Parts: sequence; structure tokens; C-alpha cells
Amino acid sequence: MSEVVTPVLGDFGEAVITGLSQARKTIPARYLYDVRGSELFEEITRLPEYYPTRTETALLKGHANDIGRLAGKGRPLIEFGAGSATKTPLILDATSAPIYVPIDISGEFLEESIAALAASRPALRILPIAGDFTQPLTLPPLDGPLTGFFPGSTIGNFDHRAAIDLLRSFRATLGSGARLVIGIDMRKNSRLLEAAYDDAAGVTAAFNLNLLRRINRELDGTIPVEAFEHRAVWHDGLGRIEMHLAATRAIGFSVAGRRFSMRDGETIHTENSYKYAPGEARLLARASGWEPLAFWTDPDALFGLHVWTAVAEELQP
Ligand code: AVJ
Repeated sequence: MSEVVTPVLGDFGEAVITGLSQARKTIPARYLYDVRGSELFEEITRLPEYYPTRTETALLKGHANDIGRLAGKGRPLIEFGAGSATKTPLILDATSAPIYVPIDISGEFLEESIAALAASRPALRILPIAGDFTQPLTLPPLDGPLTGFFPGSTIGNFDHRAAIDLLRSFRATLGSGARLVIGIDMRKNSRLLEAAYDDAAGVTAAFNLNLLRRINRELDGTIPVEAFEHRAVWHDGLGRIEMHLAATRAIGFSVAGRRFSMRDGETIHTENSYKYAPGEARLLARASGWEPLAFWTDPDALFGLHVWTAVAEELQP
């Protein structure tokens, strides 16, 4: 008897095979961030069209005093999906946090950003956690109450149901008396949104197309990358911008030994980025065990920075 050996694919391989096998092809956005993808994303944050990073940074600077007063001073600070070398010092200064707990899936990334912080702030205690912040996690013993930090509108990558589940789990992880400082991108003119996700220099296109190169590299793929183009489409009814990779002709290719075909114009959906009007952001808070304390935006109402407080267990919806 012969045996069929199925090689183990790993998370990325499983997700790609499953996603490409669906009638509407899709690959989860978190796989955009291999080393090259993370570099390209850093480049995106500096693009003239990509307003979120610089706008949020300005809000953190401009409202540092109020953030400290409302988010609490001298508390341990827990950052979900830590990384942004530029925003962390701003929130640490605003809140005078004596202890910093960065949580990030990439241990390597964590080590780099921690080394830099430790060098400039010898008094800061840093207790990194290498892990997936979407999974329930236990913090090291800390003197609460705690302050959470979730910048960059990362919440926008989750659909509404998953966003509420995630914010509720942050509430459970942080405990009673917690505050959350969270950046949430806002609904706005669709032309501004589509430009932010399809910049003139083509960096976002390269970021999206890198996913196909990653598949070819890591999963023994034969995808003809030049037969794809980047698309960014705003869906007003859903309140989200979608990124797609569209086939510009009928193609066939294989990934990890499986055959796939795509029609001319067929797309692979690679990211959702939800945007929230102020009232929608408040509803998001209240649906997940938080009560809004403060909200700031820039003069053009591009981006929102919020401080929320944990609702007592017995009062939660
Ligand atoms: C990192 C998820 C906040 O949605 O704006 C940027 C990712 N995608 N350009 C966003 C992204 C395309 C970004 N987030």
C-alpha cells in the first residue's frame, strides 16, 4: 500500500489555500506583513496621501496633557500590537507610565523596538509579551489600574462583530478601572480615502502585490504577479475601504501543489479597513464594555483619538 503524504503547510499556507478555494477569493490582511510588507507599510505611513499616521501623532502630541489626566498618570501601559517607534514615546510621556507591556506577534520586532526604548529610558520597566493580541492573554502581575493603548486604527481591520469581541477581550484583560487610548480612522470623502489606499507613488500597490510575491516565495507558488493590479474601493454602505488584487487576464497558477484559476477581472480580496463616524465609534465602545471619556479630531476631521473607561462588570451589556 502506498501512503499519501500531505506536507504540513503552516498557518499562512492553510489560509492561502482556503482563501483561494472560495468562490470569492480572499486572504486575511495580517499576511500582508512579512518583512518586506512591514517595510512597505512603514513607507506608506510617510506618504502624502496617507493621513492617518501623521494625524494621530499630532493628536497624541497636541492633547498630551488631557490624555494624561483622562487615561491616568503613573499606571502601567499595555500596548496591543506594539511597534510604532514614534507613537510609543508620546503615550509614555503623556501618561508617565513606569511600566510598559508591549504585546506583539513578532518577537523579533518586539526586541528591536524594546532595545531602542530601553536605551533612551533606563528607568522604564519593559515587560514584553510575544503573542497574538486577538487571543485571550494573561498579563504579568501588575499594580493596576491599567491603561491600554491601541493606536493606528488597527481596529479598522476587523469587521464589526470581531471588533466588538476584540475590544471586549481588551476590557477583560485590562480589568476594572482600566482606560483605553484608541485611534480610530473616520468616515470621510471617498476621494480622500481611495487616494490614501492607492497613492500616486504606487507604494500601497507594491504593499498589496507583495502578498503574491510572498506566496510565490514561501508556498512554492507560480502566480504571474504582472497579471495583477492593485485596487482600492470605498463601500459607503459597509463603511469600509477594500483592497483587492485584480487579475487583468484569465490565468492559471499553482500554490503548494494546488491548481487555481482566475477569470479576467476576478479579484482576491486582501484587506478591509473600516472607518467610523464619531457616533459609530461611541457605539463600538458601549457595545464592548467601555464608556467614552474623550474624543479629539484634527481640523479636517480625518482621524479620531479616543479615551475610554472600562464599564463595571455588573453594568456591562
Ligand atoms: C495598519 C490596518 C491601520 O488600514 O490603514 C494601509 C493598513 N493598508 N494601507 C490601514 C493599510 C493599506 C492600515 N492599518
